[in-house]
Parts: sequence; C-alpha cells; structure tokens
Amino acid sequence: MNNQAMLQEEFSLSGQVALITAGARGLGKGIALELAKCGAYVWIWDNDDQALESTRSEFESQGLRIGILKLDLVDPISLQRAYERLISESSNLHILVNNAGGSLHTPFQFLKESDEDWMRLIELNLMTTVRLTRLVLPCMVSNKYGRIVNLGSKAGRYGSLFAGANYVAVKGAVHSLTIQLAQEFGLHGITVNTVCPGAIMTERVKGLLASRQSPEERQRVINEIPVRRHGEIDDVARTVRFLVSKSAGFITGSLIDVNGGQVMST
Ligand SMILES: NC(=O)c1ccc[n+]([C@@H]2O[C@H](COP(=O)([O-])OP(=O)(O)OC[C@H]3O[C@@H](n4cnc5c(N)ncnc54)[C@H](O)[C@@H]3O)[C@@H](O)[C@H]2O)c1
Repeated sequence: MNNQAMLQEEFSLSGQVALITAGARGLGKGIALELAKCGAYVWIWDNDDQALESTRSEFESQGLRIGILKLDLVDPISLQRAYERLISESSNLHILVNNAGGSLHTPFQFLKESDEDWMRLIELNLMTTVRLTRLVLPCMVSNKYGRIVNLGSKAGRYGSLFAGANYVAVKGAVHSLTIQLAQEFGLHGITVNTVCPGAIMTERVKGLLASRQSPEERQRVINEIPVRRHGEIDDVARTVRFLVSKSAGFITGSLIDVNGGQVMST
C-alpha cells in the first residue's frame, strides 16, 4: 500500500454507521456530509421535515446514501423509538455526534432569563446528549469500539458576550460530562470528546450576529481573532472527522477549541 492509500485508509469510515443529531442544517449537516464522504452510512435526526428532505436530496445528488428521521429530540420516548429503528435498519452504531443544542435565542442577559429559558436549554443541549448517549453505549461496549463527539462551545469554556448564562452553563455541563464519560468508557475502546467552536458562520449565526452586533463591532471582533476570520462549517466538520477516525484512538476526554485562537488556554 502506498502512503496516500495508507492515509486514506486511516481516515476511512467505510462500513461504519454514524448518527448526527440535529443534522438537517448548520454544523450537523456539515459534519454529516464530511463523515458520509469518508464512507460512513450516516443517520440524520432532526425535527424539520423540509430541511431533512432537502438535505437527503443534496446528499443523494453527490452519490451519498443517508438515513433521515423526523423526531423531537427532547422527547425521551421518540428518542428511544428512533434508536430502535436505527438498530433494526442498520444493525450497528459506531459513531455518535451529539450536535443538538444552541441558545434558542433566549435572552443573553442573566436577569432576563426565566426558569423556562433555562429548562429549554438544559433539555436540548444536555438531556438529549445524556439520554442518547445512554441508549447507544451498550452497543458500543459490546463492539468494544465507539466514537462519541459532543458539540460544546467557546461560550461554555470562556463565557460569551452574545449568549446568556443558561447557554454558557449548560455547555459547561456538556464539557464536564465528556470528561466523566471518557473516564468511565475508555476501557471499552470508546473515546468521548467535545468540540468547542467559536462563532461559526451558519445561516442562523449570521442572522444572530447581524441582529446583535453592529458592522463596526463585528470588525472589531474579527480584528481580535488571530486568524482574522470567523469559523466556517468545514472547520468544525474536519475536526470531528479526525476525532472519529481510527487515528484519534488515544485522544479522549478532550475539549478541542475551534475558534481561530480567539481564546486560548494552557
Ligand atoms: N454555529 C455556531 O457558531 C456554534 C458555536 C458553538 C457551538 N455551536 C453548537 O453547535 C451545535 C449546532 O449548532 P448550529 O449553529 O449548527 O445549529 P442550527 O440552528 O444551524 O441548526 C440546528 C438544527 O437543530 C434542529 N433542531 C432544533 N431543535 C430540535 C429538536 N428539539 N429536535 C430535533 N431537531 C431540532 C433544527 O431543525 C436545525 O436543523 C449546537 O449544539 C450549538 O450549540 C454552534
């Protein structure tokens, strides 16, 4: 085998099944595309019918087969049924990307956030990850192999100027959960890591920044980012591709900053 073929083999996900939550749009969709291009059979779960269908057409036009399922990820019973369906159709699961989350554009001032705002974020960002990870782990344990990647956030590590305390705190909880799961399941060949993006230019984030920051503020922020740009979906998707590859087997319990150096830690 020549060097190029060996490299391709290292990053190949051929024969593997991957599940990406909230994957019909934004980062989830980009991650799904990246893993499908590496040969994985990808399942995308989302609650938006239209976005799911248009994502499926987009994948099929590139010769990539995917499974799509419409469900509300915060409903534990739907989650259980969806997982049963995935296993009955695909027989196995090797990769889980807990991408569902976000600030749901709740107020970013602590004193304006209601208990309901807090609970909605806890359910979507944390409990969906907890419940789904609990469902998939027995399969990964019996395979003696698994790759779990959670979507955390720069906000959850370092705070945020345009997302609120609820978002920051709940992503912090996802980060801590990552470390504990890595601790507990490493001996079963399962790695658990979290990617912590800065602002990534999905359609939603472009709109959010436009509504919450003036063009001058935007430019000032970009000037403070060492690489002088915001992130793109591919920046995150390629990081996830590495973390789920065989080559990343010694990396677990890590919080990987993908923020162009906007915030750094030792
Ligand atoms: N985009 C960024 O700049 C950024 C930065 C840091 C972290 N993140 C994290 O990355 C993840 C993805 O963010 P994004 O910006 O790509 O999101 P997005 O808003 O672009 O897409 C979210 C997707 O989730 C689906 N969804 C929402 N609620 C759902 C539910 N209850 N059940 C099923 N599907 C549901 C939506 O239909 C949509 O397809 C989130 O966890 C977010 O916190 C994003």
